[in-house]
Amino acid sequence: MKTFALYNLKGGVGKTTTCVNLAYLAASEGHRTLVWDIDPQGGATYLLGKKTKLKGGIHKLLQPNTKLPRIIKPTIYDNTYVIPSDISTRELDVVLNEFKRPNHRFKKLLKGAKRDFNYVFIDCPPSLGTAIENVFHAADFILVPMIPSRLSEHAYGRLCDFFESQGYDSRKLVPFFTLVDERKRIHKDTIKQFRKDKRKVLRSSIPYAASVERMSQERAPIHAFAPKSKGAFAYRNLWQELKWFRKLKPLWQFPTQEAS
Ligand SMILES: Nc1ncnc2c1ncn2[C@@H]1O[C@H](COP(=O)(O)OP(=O)(O)O)[C@@H](O)[C@H]1O
Ligand SMILES: [Mg+2]
Repeated sequence: MKTFALYNLKGGVGKTTTCVNLAYLAASEGHRTLVWDIDPQGGATYLLGKKTKLKGGIHKLLQPNTKLPRIIKPTIYDNTYVIPSDISTRELDVVLNEFKRPNHRFKKLLKGAKRDFNYVFIDCPPSLGTAIENVFHAADFILVPMIPSRLSEHAYGRLCDFFESQGYDSRKLVPFFTLVDERKRIHKDTIKQFRKDKRKVLRSSIPYAASVERMSQERAPIHAFAPKSKGAFAYRNLWQELKWFRKLKPLWQFPTQEAS
């Protein structure tokens, strides 16, 4: 099982849109795919056509004896399942902080889904609390959509610093550009500079496209209603690049004195 999270401290950058489209593409290749919506806005739940209702609320989901199959809902799309979000999801950080090791709950929970799913996509809220630290521990890769601007670059730099200062594995961070408007000089220049600085960024990017914007109207992944559109093509390219990602080997660490 491979876990991708969609994260950025900024809102409105395409996290939810990307999460749903990538999950659809993975599932359409026959992989059992779970979307876990941890954003109280419930955008991913909505786009997958489900009610924003979590049975027993977030408190129940996080209890050690909760059986995931009772909470996971099928969607109308083959191989695609969802852990919906509802308004109780806003209490995620509070509930997590009641546990002894509050940052490791998600990892434990996902272990229970290991046999049932090939892919998990986590749609994150734009915050940086205990839930997000859980994501940083549990996800194999953290996909960071960025609108090309100096401000996004700055925010991404801050995220990298946070990873380093907290001892997270920064190889997990996978930035890519979204809502790209090739006609805008600032977009072109930012992308060029980012690559020139040899900063890690995916080759594929997602253009600003009316077809992508229509997803909220159609309440569906883009490939379900406009499979030949520019947006659908871009998301296919993104998935082609990501699906070959292999899990990272743990970083080699100096043995501590006690261990040697
Ligand atoms: N590539 C795109 N082209 C046009 N509109 C987009 C694109 N990606 C996202 N949007 C629109 O931008 C808004 C924010 O996207 P969303 O995925 O909800 O961002 P986030 O989850 O980061 O807050 C939504 O209205 C969505 O339809
Ligand atoms: Mg969102």
